[in-house]
Amino acid sequence: MKTDLSVRIGSLHLKNPVMVASGTFGYAEEFKDFLDLRQLGAVVTKTVTLKPRSGNPSPRTCETPSGMLNSIGLENPGLEVFLKTKLPFAAKLGIPLIVSIASESDPQEFVELACRLERVKSVSALELNISCPNVKHAGAATALISQDPAATKAVVRSVRKVSTKTIITKLSPNVTDIVPIAQAAQAGGSDAIALINTLTGMCIDVRRRRSRIAMPVGGLSGPAVRPVAVRMVWEVYRKIKIPIIGMGGIIDTFSALEFLIAGAAAISVGTANFVDPAVSGRIIAGLKEYALENKIASVRSLTGSIVKPCVQPKK
Ligand SMILES: Cc1cc2nc3c(=O)[nH]c(=O)nc-3n(C[C@H](O)[C@H](O)[C@H](O)COP(=O)(O)O)c2cc1C
Repeated sequence: MKTDLSVRIGSLHLKNPVMVASGTFGYAEEFKDFLDLRQLGAVVTKTVTLKPRSGNPSPRTCETPSGMLNSIGLENPGLEVFLKTKLPFAAKLGIPLIVSIASESDPQEFVELACRLERVKSVSALELNISCPNVKHAGAATALISQDPAATKAVVRSVRKVSTKTIITKLSPNVTDIVPIAQAAQAGGSDAIALINTLTGMCIDVRRRRSRIAMPVGGLSGPAVRPVAVRMVWEVYRKIKIPIIGMGGIIDTFSALEFLIAGAAAISVGTANFVDPAVSGRIIAGLKEYALENKIASVRSLTGSIVKPCVQPKK
């Protein structure tokens, strides 16, 4: 029996549903000695901004129970240097290349970034990072665009107007209800939703009575956040029509399957890349094995295949 691992995200055709999460895989070149990058479903770059950013002060990361806290602060070389020095390697891989973009202070920067990237043929899709917990937007009503449905819709719509590329909107879990935000991104014209970005958290060194990272608050990721992420994918899947790319604590085939069964069409591997840089390759092989063993003809049939609970949640 043959099994089909391919999935569609907007106009992208992925040969399998395994992607790598923004900020945890550099610009792909950093991982070339660890796995065959061409086997990945797609690559998502570290978020790029119009101007270079040096990021937040060190220490920027610390280990936490079953996870890590980070406050990188979107360090990146800026669009010009990215296009000249980082993009060419990833562009030659022959797999869909998704460029993650963010504004620093004015959401209009998303439009400018999208216009500039529209001319770059090797870029297959844009991922709108409206959810980074480690940057602040001056004068904004909320810390994050993705904490406000109206702001989310406005940003997606403004990018949609200038871009013919597939648009993925990356959401924050730091909200009371994720559903209206996902619906706002869909209404703005997003082709897909990526969730989750990191959960805000703190870690204190009790002897020094100081935060263990230089910033008081950072973003929590890794297996510790997985149940929150799976729950959010499940909630959003039932209320939107566009595909979901699920992430948050995926470390192996079974954790990837949790997301697919909850409603994700594809998944991204993040923090686990720091523990085992070849883990995505193993997950791809594991999904194939699982599909063959369970006589699953297409991995697409797994999406949202969770068995209905005996007790139905209230609408
Ligand atoms: C060190 C680090 C840097 C990150 N940088 C970015 C980033 O630049 N853009 C972005 O959208 N998400 C970024 N993220 C969030 C991840 O892409 C992902 O959404 C999150 O970590 C949850 O997945 P995980 O638990 O598998 O890591 C970063 C995460 C980590 C740990």
